[in-house]
Amino acid sequence: MPKRILVVDDETAFRTMLAEALAEKGYKVDEAATAEEGVEMIRPGRYDLVLHDMQLPGMSGIEAIPLLRERDPLVDVIVMTGHSTRDSALKAMQQGAYDYFTKPFSLKEMEIVIRRVMEKRRLQLEVDNLKQAIQGQGLGRRIIGDSEAMRQVKRMVQRVATLETGVLITGETGTGKELIADTIHALSRRAEKPFIKLNCAAIPESLLESELFGHEKGAFTGASSVKRGKFELAEGGSILLDEIGDMPLHLQPKLLRAVEQKQVERVGGAKPVSFDVRIIAATNQDLHQRVADGEFRSDLYYRLNVASIELPPLRERKDDIPLLAGLFLRQINLRLGTDLASVSSQAMDLLFNYDWPGNVRQFANALERAAIFCEGPSVAFADIERAFRKGPPSSAPVVPAAPQDLPNVPLKQAVNDYEKALIRSALERTAGVQTEAAALLGISPKNLWNKLKKHGLDSAAF
Ligand SMILES: Nc1ncnc2c1ncn2[C@@H]1O[C@H](COP(=O)(O)OP(=O)(O)OP(=O)(O)O)[C@@H](O)[C@H]1O
Ligand SMILES: [Mg+2]
Repeated sequence: MPKRILVVDDETAFRTMLAEALAEKGYKVDEAATAEEGVEMIRPGRYDLVLHDMQLPGMSGIEAIPLLRERDPLVDVIVMTGHSTRDSALKAMQQGAYDYFTKPFSLKEMEIVIRRVMEKRRLQLEVDNLKQAIQGQGLGRRIIGDSEAMRQVKRMVQRVATLETGVLITGETGTGKELIADTIHALSRRAEKPFIKLNCAAIPESLLESELFGHEKGAFTGASSVKRGKFELAEGGSILLDEIGDMPLHLQPKLLRAVEQKQVERVGGAKPVSFDVRIIAATNQDLHQRVADGEFRSDLYYRLNVASIELPPLRERKDDIPLLAGLFLRQINLRLGTDLASVSSQAMDLLFNYDWPGNVRQFANALERAAIFCEGPSVAFADIERAFRKGPPSSAPVVPAAPQDLPNVPLKQAVNDYEKALIRSALERTAGVQTEAAALLGISPKNLWNKLKKHGLDSAAF
């Protein structure tokens, strides 16, 4: 790629001479006769270097430098000046110009400096690439998994992170969807800006609209002041719409408009507010199926699903179990002050033989519970067994026996009680972790949440 240089000078003869000399050396050169014209020609990445005269009719070189930088923060500038304007040349250096030349100057000397600028730029690029590679290593450390499936996930995360497109992350509960979303934001250009998360399943439907879009003062009873929505709060950064499958149908058109137009209307607000936010969505539901069932709008689905990352369930990547066990043991040691070295091989067999419906989260919790029982230097078979309470739950569904006799209460109530009992035992099994209990019961966390309310159960009590 030939390096591109822009020469800005009002003396036509001088400018043309310089441009031709540089073109002969293999540079691609454009010319501008005024600073205004020069600024106009700058685009991000279009030029490597601007050679700028100081005294020009209209805008001066000093005034032009910040404007050039604004349009392309990475462009380099060398100023050219008559000796009477040396002061301003020094000022230009303070503004970030790379060097200055006093006219008349030797073309040879100029050429050496230009080559130095280009070399500096090449090195800078290398450093940037290196930084990215190192970040990539960091990524490898955070998202654990060496299975082919996880390697592919990590490659996708790398590729998608630096783009600005929307991402849809799918996978069963506990497979690491939020971790992936965190990583994408952290590796993106928006890393320093806010990352706002909204769990669409955890917020009562009646409040979801104003959470997302905000509301004006007096928009409804109780709206005593203006509230900015999550999109506004995420300005410049990213938003995670978690459990997007639970987005109520009636809010989906408004969300679609927001995503398409990058604008929201606060509830009770008259004029739209623009935002610049990258949208990441996650769900453990089969959105495609929900579209087919008419529960999710297809246009919104396609809008969100520009890039998609599908997380495989843990049972399909059991190769990752030893690595994950290592990671979680280190974390447990830090948190509990234990000094566990490893998982014994019989205990490891147990971990391998179970199919982990609650995936990585359930795995981490089971290991932590086992660590609490553990008395030796490594986690033993018995510790894991106790962590599973009555031995590892079999992968075949166990349906507790229903009463043989006819109930002496109406059928509806009997079914209700039976449901309540099943939920209780799921919560006992998972020590009150709702997402895991939902996975055991084969229902969505939101569904479980509704049922807990219905039965007056409190997961914290388990
Ligand atoms: N590949 C992984 N490497 C390291 N930790 C992981 C990995 N996958 C998941 N985890 C950990 O497991 C836990 C659950 O992950 P996360 O909350 O991201 O899952 P999720 O898919 O969002 O689950 P849910 O659908 O229930 O919200 C977190 O503590 C996360 O850090
Ligand atoms: Mg999650």
